[in-house]
Amino acid sequence: MVKFAKLSYDGKSVEFPLVEGTEDELAIDIKSLRAATNLITLDPGFKNTGSCQSAITFLDGEKGVLRYRGYDIEDLAKNADFLEVAFLLIFGELPTSEQLDKFLVDIKEESYIDEDLKKILESFPSAAHPMGVLSSLTSALTAFNPKTFDVESEDEMYRAIVRIMGKLPVLVAWVFRKKSGLPLKYGDYALGYVENIARMMFRKPNKEYVANPIIDQALNKLLILHAEHEQNCSTSTVRIVGSSHAGLFASVAAGISALWGPLHGGANQAVVEMLEDIRKDGGDIDKYMIKAKDKSDPFRLMGFGHRVYKNFDPRARIIKKAANEVLENLGIVDPVLEIAKKLEQAALNDPYFADRKLYPNVDFYSGIIYRAMGISTETFTVMFALGRLPGWIAQWREMRLNKEPIGRPRQIYVGQNQRPFVPLNKR
Ligand code: ACO
Repeated sequence: MVKFAKLSYDGKSVEFPLVEGTEDELAIDIKSLRAATNLITLDPGFKNTGSCQSAITFLDGEKGVLRYRGYDIEDLAKNADFLEVAFLLIFGELPTSEQLDKFLVDIKEESYIDEDLKKILESFPSAAHPMGVLSSLTSALTAFNPKTFDVESEDEMYRAIVRIMGKLPVLVAWVFRKKSGLPLKYGDYALGYVENIARMMFRKPNKEYVANPIIDQALNKLLILHAEHEQNCSTSTVRIVGSSHAGLFASVAAGISALWGPLHGGANQAVVEMLEDIRKDGGDIDKYMIKAKDKSDPFRLMGFGHRVYKNFDPRARIIKKAANEVLENLGIVDPVLEIAKKLEQAALNDPYFADRKLYPNVDFYSGIIYRAMGISTETFTVMFALGRLPGWIAQWREMRLNKEPIGRPRQIYVGQNQRPFVPLNKR
């Protein structure tokens, strides 16, 4: 097999080695490109650019395959516990029961927040978006935990990891509770990681909390499905912020901001808002299909399309099934689920969507489950962030252990050529 790619430019021919992944993926290693040719590559949106070699997630968008550390997402979503998946992603192997117990105990040790952070939370206006609040509070954790750590030390890395795994669920629960007008409380650390998150979020001040296994299981599944997705927008953000040797809290806070946008994690909120708008508008699917296809209309079918999946998103299939089951088990009839199914069917049968290989993504049905659990629409993306945390940590850790250089793309300058300064009175 040819092991290099040849580039001819300006009468010269330069060869670049090919890099092969464990699933036979090929890339041209252009590290020497600029030195050899004085050229750079231009790839807005990084549609053809690999930023790293990673051993965490394998994704084949053409075949609809997603694996965490070699394990199929279907297998993990069906059989695993979120904390096991977090351990797998971060450390590379499924934990033994001793390793899992220790991980949970170490996380519990860190599952508290400086009381002064409550003052920051309370100072946000009640209309503040939960993602902005979560990102700010995660960043603020740096101020309350200022000690920098040595990334050469596995032990110090581990301490940073259990610290954020312990503290982020408390912040998420508090952001949700503040938005819902509920008192800020801690959980019950005798419970498992996910069960404790459910308790911290849903416990009411006026009655004994009784765990609902349907909610716990649905939450576990959603967190696993959102846990990792290789070099997406928020993960690339975490890696690039971390590449400047900023700490883990700061890197994750940046990831939360990147996740917020409606083209990324914010799509789960945008989908349910879109479905509600369609419902209020009489449920006319055809009208919204026409809008989605009209290039002069900014409307897009939220929860449809993906940069990488060009066949189907395996997470969407699992979530659709889970949405049906959870709503049925909770005895909830949500009219937007029916609208979602009709919209999906209409889009799948429409040449515009078929030609562009646009399929439902992970967020098309996830908001419907969150809503059935009693989570407000604006808080959906906060739940996504909680699920994505192990993925961000795993990628950040891998980047630091591999001693990757600071992320710093180049550009092609298309602005003004050099010109003299014009004083104010001459302009
Ligand atoms: N509705 C209507 N048309 C769409 C949609 C959509 N949801 N998505 C893509 N298209 C069209 C584009 O207009 C474009 O058409 P053209 O070739 O005629 O110009 C074509 O499909 C390709 O779309 P791009 O925007 O170039 O694809 P890209 O890979 O850059 O974007 C993205 C992917 C951002 C996910 C896009 O499909 C989208 O905006 N989807 C809706 C938002 C969404 O659901 N985001 C969540 C993604 S999953 C996640 O991040 C967790």
